[in-house]
Amino acid sequence: MHLRVSHITKRFGSAAAVDDVSFDVPKGSFATLLGPSGCGKTTTLRMIAGFYEPDAGDIEIGGRRVNDLPAHRRGTAMVFQDYALFPHMTVYDNVAYGLRVAGRPRPERDKRVNDTLTFVGLGGMGGRWPNQLSGGQQQRVAVARALVIEPQVLLLDEPLSNLDAKLREQLRVELRILQRRLGMTFVYVTHDQDEALSLSDWIAVMNAGKVEQAGTPWEIYYHPRTAFLADFVGAVNLVPARVESVGDGSVTVSFGPHRASVRRPVDVSLSTGQEVRLCMRPESFTIAPAGASANGLALSGTIARRAFLGDTMRYWVKVDDREWIVDQPDPGATETLDGAVLLSLRPERVHVIAES
Ligand SMILES: Nc1ncnc2c1ncn2[C@@H]1O[C@H](COP(=O)(O)OP(=O)(O)OP(=O)(O)O)[C@@H](O)[C@H]1O
Ligand SMILES: [Mg+2]
Repeated sequence: MHLRVSHITKRFGSAAAVDDVSFDVPKGSFATLLGPSGCGKTTTLRMIAGFYEPDAGDIEIGGRRVNDLPAHRRGTAMVFQDYALFPHMTVYDNVAYGLRVAGRPRPERDKRVNDTLTFVGLGGMGGRWPNQLSGGQQQRVAVARALVIEPQVLLLDEPLSNLDAKLREQLRVELRILQRRLGMTFVYVTHDQDEALSLSDWIAVMNAGKVEQAGTPWEIYYHPRTAFLADFVGAVNLVPARVESVGDGSVTVSFGPHRASVRRPVDVSLSTGQEVRLCMRPESFTIAPAGASANGLALSGTIARRAFLGDTMRYWVKVDDREWIVDQPDPGATETLDGAVLLSLRPERVHVIAES
């Protein structure tokens, strides 16, 4: 493992901001800490960077315990939540700062700074001041300042959060390409689930100082272990249900008047009579006028509301006593529905959460 975090805890007063957090990040991968505001993401990153000392636990980089090393000797660099550019220094001097502190000679400094600025698309802008740059350009300076010292592990704390949606999306793509090209290990912090899903090889979802679940974006999105997680990473239908019987690879559940045999989640023990929740993503359904033939599990309902989102039409459909969120892709290609409808869903798209 390139970065290993073992049982780290950080308390401020009596409250634990980070509470027994462990994870491993392989070399060259894009790892993300995702979670709501205040869950301990920045505190975790600061401990890895060496700006906070953990109250307990170990941090290893490249097989070496770094707890006792100062920040500048860990092989890490951090891009801060607010960029933290030096306003009284030019772009060049901002980027050169770490090399100057490290005592690198002028010709080497010049070459590395100019190469890095070109690399992040800011070639020729070294003479500008931070206040003469757009938010997106400032963000690139912050990344360049971290990259120029050639860290082993780059730590990025919500670097895109101050930007507009379009630019954020563009820089997301650029960051991912950059990371791949350098083969550098990234630890990225965000509270934005789309960002986490689209960028990461691996995500740890944090809540109240703990890692609630870690895995690939696919695992986190489709096989969340808790209702909190299911809801945090996207729109979802979480429906209370009861376990009727447990088979080898399948489990039969009932909810309202409905009964379905669905896939049994791995690594979770379920027993007959247990109260659980079914997790169904809005885009997993097919929606059709009432009377259509169903494909799998069929639910009759009535449209309560709808919202046109451009790439999808989102319907809220009353089924039994609950409103279900159902997304229909490419609304321009189909008629807009109203009144009585039939929802259908293949049983393998239903995920069981062992929580009531
Ligand atoms: N220096 C500090 N002194 C006291 N409490 C702190 C300090 N830094 C963070 N905390 C507290 O620790 C908890 C975790 O903070 P942290 O900054 O790690 O959250 P975060 O996940 O980065 O949130 P955000 O998404 O808002 O940046 C919060 O309750 C915060 O108030
Ligand atoms: Mg933070």
